[in-house]
Amino acid sequence: MKPDVRICANVEELSLRAAEAAVRTVNEAARGVGRCSLVLSGGSTPRTLYGVLASQFEKDIPWAQLHIFWGDERYVPLVDPKSNYRMAREALLEHVPCPPANIHPMPTHFPSPDAAARDYEATLRGFFAGERACFDLVRLGLGAEGHTASLFPGSPVLAETTRWVRATSAPADPPTRLTLTWPALTGARNIYVLVAGSNKAHALGHVFGDAPDPRVYPASRIRLAEGSVIWWVDREAVGGLLP
Ligand code: 6PG
Repeated sequence: MKPDVRICANVEELSLRAAEAAVRTVNEAARGVGRCSLVLSGGSTPRTLYGVLASQFEKDIPWAQLHIFWGDERYVPLVDPKSNYRMAREALLEHVPCPPANIHPMPTHFPSPDAAARDYEATLRGFFAGERACFDLVRLGLGAEGHTASLFPGSPVLAETTRWVRATSAPADPPTRLTLTWPALTGARNIYVLVAGSNKAHALGHVFGDAPDPRVYPASRIRLAEGSVIWWVDREAVGGLLP
């Protein structure tokens, strides 16, 4: 199936259009079942989106019905400048009326990252009450070498078939991370992948190329049997690869 790619002029336009679509998606979910699960992640691209949601769209989001989770986290204290939770808190959460009980950061205070991963998995399994994970909206990014969330090329975590959350060691700073696994991500109803900057063009070319190897370009596995995936991509990231 052809990927749904929305090409935007730059990160500002991409963030605005993704925010408009996210508002529709979370309202539909909240109207349907009375609550909506939104998964955030890190990096610099989503910071603009989070800022737009907090300012232009603050009044359009049913915050009391929204539950916020993370797709990955760097294993540092939540107050650390490298923390994905801290970035989302500063750019979005401290500016909006989301009830604190609805905000579910990945824990990073356990001596063992694996214990933290198991604890977060228990939180998620409790939220989904024994059913499979089916997040209403997951926001992901694309790393320049093809990773998404903290699913990095060659990682043994890519082969996970049972657990929803794993600790992992990544060739990135900081190396120790927690990440949702494919079994947790592929039941999502909607995934938005935000990709900006010319350093992404190479990986994007492979992700959209013929038969990409998901062990080498993990983001090429972002496909949903039932849900919708939208790639919000800026012109620099597209390079010369797409029309
Ligand atoms: C992280 C991420 C990671 C990120 C990509 C893209 O914690 O590093 O969650 O998967 O989304 O590295 O980041 P940019 O969009 O900032 O390039």
